[in-house]
Amino acid sequence: MLQRPSIARFALMGLLLVATGAALAATGDETRDWRRWLRMFPNIAPATQPAYLQECGSCHLAYPPGVLPAASWNRILAPESLADHYGDDASLPDDLVAELRTYLTANAADRSARVRERAFAVPGASGSDAGLPRITETPYFIRKHHRIPARLVTDNPEVGSFSQCNRCHIGADAGIFDERQVEIPGFGRWKD
Ligand code: HEC
Ligand code: HEC
Repeated sequence: MLQRPSIARFALMGLLLVATGAALAATGDETRDWRRWLRMFPNIAPATQPAYLQECGSCHLAYPPGVLPAASWNRILAPESLADHYGDDASLPDDLVAELRTYLTANAADRSARVRERAFAVPGASGSDAGLPRITETPYFIRKHHRIPARLVTDNPEVGSFSQCNRCHIGADAGIFDERQVEIPGFGRWKD
């Protein structure tokens, strides 16, 4: 009398365990897929304004506005700065500069609600004020890139300098800067 229900219960429990195990295993896979899928999304808002993409995207990536604070964009866009733009002449007509200024400052790192963009707005401890501001000299950028040896960057003809974000961040155009989406030319995927 007592035995039959227990056997049934045992069988049922066994079945439940197997089912739960299978369900858990499936969930594990799904979670991994889901994470991989999530990495395909921008973690920095990409540049979208047509004039900016056209005028500031020919020599290097049209950097996302959220990787520099508004004050830095303002300095870079001053006429005398554009005439001597990190050694190049990037001069533009005044009305166009005004349009770029409005766009870049409105979407700058210090005006952003995104955590990763705000990180770019944190100023350095001392910071050499000589020359134009650089994304690649912000403390956050340095913290993320200091372990990458020069042979993969400046000594790598396919990269040239850290300013060429999209050589390594293959999704940079779309604002995907996730470290797991990095592929350094001639070296491959970056693993910690
Ligand atoms: C004629 C080519 C050219 C054009 C056009 C140009 N740039 Fe540049 N830009 C450069 C060069 C060269 C550098 C320095 C890259 C290096 O050090 O390897 C640079 C660097 C920069 C940097 C600093 C990147 C870093 O190292 O952190 C910013 C920001 C920048 N440019 C913004 C702009 C903006 C905004 C415009 C449009 C108004 C623009 N650039 C148009 C050539 C250009
Ligand atoms: C030589 C290749 C290379 C270049 C060029 C480069 N990066 Fe990176 N970047 C990396 C690597 C590798 C990492 C991951 C570093 C780590 O976590 O150890 C990274 C990390 C990052 C991260 C953090 C991502 C995360 O998941 O936390 C951001 C943001 C970023 N880079 C932005 C930029 C920007 C903006 C530029 C251009 C101004 C740039 N990078 C240029 C290789 C590069």
